[in-house]
Amino acid sequence: MSRILFASSEAAPLIKTGGLADISGSLPAALKSLRQAVRLIIPAYPEAIRNAGHVKNIGTLKIGGHSVRLLEGRMPDSKVIVWLVDSPAHFSRTGGPYTDNSGHDWADNAERFALFSRVVVEIAMNRARLNWQPEVVHCNDWQTGLVPTLLNMENPRPGTVFSIHNLAYQGVFPYRTFADLGLPAALWSYRSLEYFGNLSFIKGGLVFADRLTTVSPTYAEEICTPTLGYGMDALLRHRRDRLTGILNGVDYDVWDPCADPLIDTPYTVETPAGKQNNKLALQRRFGLPEKTIPLLGMVGRMVEQKGIDLLLDAIPLIDIPVQLVILGSGEKRFEQAALALAKRFPKQIGVYIGYDESLAHLIEAGADVFLMPSRFEPCGLNQLYSLRYGTPPVVHKTGGLADTVTHTDTHTLEAGSATGFVFDFPDIQGLLWAIRQALKCYERSDCWPQVMKNAMQQDFSWSHSARLYLSLYRQAIQDAASI
Ligand code: ADP
Ligand code: GLC
Repeated sequence: MSRILFASSEAAPLIKTGGLADISGSLPAALKSLRQAVRLIIPAYPEAIRNAGHVKNIGTLKIGGHSVRLLEGRMPDSKVIVWLVDSPAHFSRTGGPYTDNSGHDWADNAERFALFSRVVVEIAMNRARLNWQPEVVHCNDWQTGLVPTLLNMENPRPGTVFSIHNLAYQGVFPYRTFADLGLPAALWSYRSLEYFGNLSFIKGGLVFADRLTTVSPTYAEEICTPTLGYGMDALLRHRRDRLTGILNGVDYDVWDPCADPLIDTPYTVETPAGKQNNKLALQRRFGLPEKTIPLLGMVGRMVEQKGIDLLLDAIPLIDIPVQLVILGSGEKRFEQAALALAKRFPKQIGVYIGYDESLAHLIEAGADVFLMPSRFEPCGLNQLYSLRYGTPPVVHKTGGLADTVTHTDTHTLEAGSATGFVFDFPDIQGLLWAIRQALKCYERSDCWPQVMKNAMQQDFSWSHSARLYLSLYRQAIQDAASI
């Protein structure tokens, strides 16, 4: 049994903006069921405190002149112990974890997540009077990048693992911020936090963590190249022997079509007819005609990464009658373009701009085909959910999408491995091609039921990946001990 401190800026169901929250909710739960002593730590946003139910105050820390309370609660489903870092000046505000209500980054994000990271370090060094010290600290994304950095200055110290969920977000701030944060002067070097004259939070994680992971084997390769390395590829190549790609797992207690309280009718691989009711419910929800016509669905952040622009450009060019529903929010230009398309084709296209957990579940269940034309995708969870819901995905061959979806052709159909439709280049032609392939298969009784069945039988539960993390934790603990 290892003592693991899992640090993240969001964790479902307490607070969620994307897949990081799903993972931070489900991986600690999987580790707990492998009998590990795991503690999750996140900032105490008001929504997180509300959703945590009963919390108790377990201590107070002084960090850079701020008095910070530590609250302890339990994750609603898994009962994993969660610690909430309560510094009202930093986290108690209306808006999202990273942005205000109009979508602008909080001006003090560097200060907010530096404070969070410093609290994690104090706990990791057993200086928070909790009488508990982790053997390994698992950090996630740039918000926790200063944790391995500051821990590296301690000896002895716990092992550190840093996971990259998306290298496109790096936490880059001007030199002034470095000075304002009062970080040790020695860290201002191209060998540590300095990145072309700026302060880079993620670089701290990439340089100083004992072990690095990312969320799929293919993305682990891709980030070592200039195309998807976002300026960090040379550093990652240098640390290639420390970098592993471990595929994200799915919490099938939350994403299960036979027991999902958020959908219209439960169904299984043996009773796929129930899916039909969900389709009708979805058509009604979007005010689309309730008829037999292929229904395409998409859920996701409306940013370039997700290829939403490709989709909006491709849709009018599909020469077969279809309906399309889109749920998402993000950049205004994409939101407006999606709404304009729905206005142009009111009988075919439904768009909901916003964040809606239960609608996301209904789309997974009610659509026939799930669309995920991401330009890059570190892992992607929606395609994994769509597989389980018998909604074969159309995906670009990149990152975790390439690792989890098998293209349908005569060979894969025969082999029983076909689960979706995969295109090679992220352009309109590629996407259109894959959508047409899906629609052709949809019409054939010797194709669609088989692909649906294969998809629903895929197992991306945590059982395998959580064990891979465990063996990595052991290595990180050894690395730290041998310094
Ligand atoms: P990313 O983390 O890059 O956004 P993932 O596919 O890993 O992409 O995870 C996205 C998660 O966020 C999924 O659980 C998805 O259902 C959810 N999600 C994204 N956008 C919305 C939305 N508008 N409403 C509800 N859930 C959403
Ligand atoms: C990021 C990635 C997504 C991944 C998620 C969880 O948000 O964009 O691909 O699934 O993190 O690891």
